[in-house]
Amino acid sequence: MKKRLLVATGGGDCPGLNAVIRAIVKRSRLESDDWQVIGSIDAFNGILQDPMKLVELTPEVVAGIHVKGGTIIGTTNKGGPFAWPVKDIKGNITTVDRSNDLIRRIQYEGFDGVINIGGDGSQRISQKLFEKGCPIIGVPKTIDNDLSFTDFTFGFQTAVEIATDAIDKLVTTAASHHRIFVLEVMGRYAGWIALHAAIAGGAEVCLIPEIPYNLDKIKESLVDRIKDGPGFAVIIIAEGAKPIGGEMANEGFKSVESHEVHLKGAGERLVSEIDSLELGVETRLLVLGHLQRGGIPNAFDRILAAQFGTKAFEMVLNKQFGEMVCYTHPNLTTVKIKKAIKEYNLIDLDSDIVATARGLDINLGD
Ligand code: F6P
Repeated sequence: MKKRLLVATGGGDCPGLNAVIRAIVKRSRLESDDWQVIGSIDAFNGILQDPMKLVELTPEVVAGIHVKGGTIIGTTNKGGPFAWPVKDIKGNITTVDRSNDLIRRIQYEGFDGVINIGGDGSQRISQKLFEKGCPIIGVPKTIDNDLSFTDFTFGFQTAVEIATDAIDKLVTTAASHHRIFVLEVMGRYAGWIALHAAIAGGAEVCLIPEIPYNLDKIKESLVDRIKDGPGFAVIIIAEGAKPIGGEMANEGFKSVESHEVHLKGAGERLVSEIDSLELGVETRLLVLGHLQRGGIPNAFDRILAAQFGTKAFEMVLNKQFGEMVCYTHPNLTTVKIKKAIKEYNLIDLDSDIVATARGLDINLGD
């Protein structure tokens, strides 16, 4: 009898998802032809819909997809089995818990294991499903690099490269026009993308959620650069950065099934704060946005994704359900999902990467 494995990609998309899917399929075929790998379209929505939206992931289907961005089985960062959107009698959208239904469907379809590739929100869903008896394995994904117990998540290095490329380009136009440029990058509550790109690209100021910023301190660097230096500056700000005593700029929840508040406006707020300093030069903003999540994964992320995919399949074979694959340089390790989701992986302010930034005279706003 065929052994069946369900694969889902959840949360925001990320370069490397397809490389994980391909690695799972390739590794499963190596084990035996008995394994059938099935993708659930748009995270677990595919299996919860009627009719179900499932796709067989054969070696032919996944051939060459490791170089493609996005995910061939789709994703969503809203709703899910524990917050399934439904219309009430008044036509308002509300949510219901369909997790028991999901478990029943997984059993009915004869799945021997489930691999859930996703970030923090998706792994919280994995844990709750595991507690209800689902044979699930987690694969950490996110450009934000904010999952604990893994040195890196795939997608992060590609996002850093895209942000670095943006700084390289902004430097030349900022210099030509004698402007200050603010580049806003993603990362949610963590400043990993901002800090790494600031070091790689050579930004003057880098503002991260882990260090609430003081405008007077930023002013010191800007005055140096504008009045006494080359006359331009590049600032990188993480979307979750906030001034001392302030809140993360956000638009609240976009819909009832949204898992997290929508961060928006950190860069815009900073531009008006800098304008208030009257430094005599224009300040312009670039919000890099979803460009950071699109396009092809770089080699590092493809390799990490391939490692995660092959290992995750082996974890299914070993029945390591309720665990997540991790990268702890130079090896792959595993951790209980419950442990991994306990806290975000935020930047340790005493770490060497922060010391490096300070050593390069990057102003961190403190
Ligand atoms: O978690 C990944 C991420 O890209 C965050 O950096 C960002 O805040 C969020 O997703 C944006 O999500 P959306 O696709 O809903 O705009």
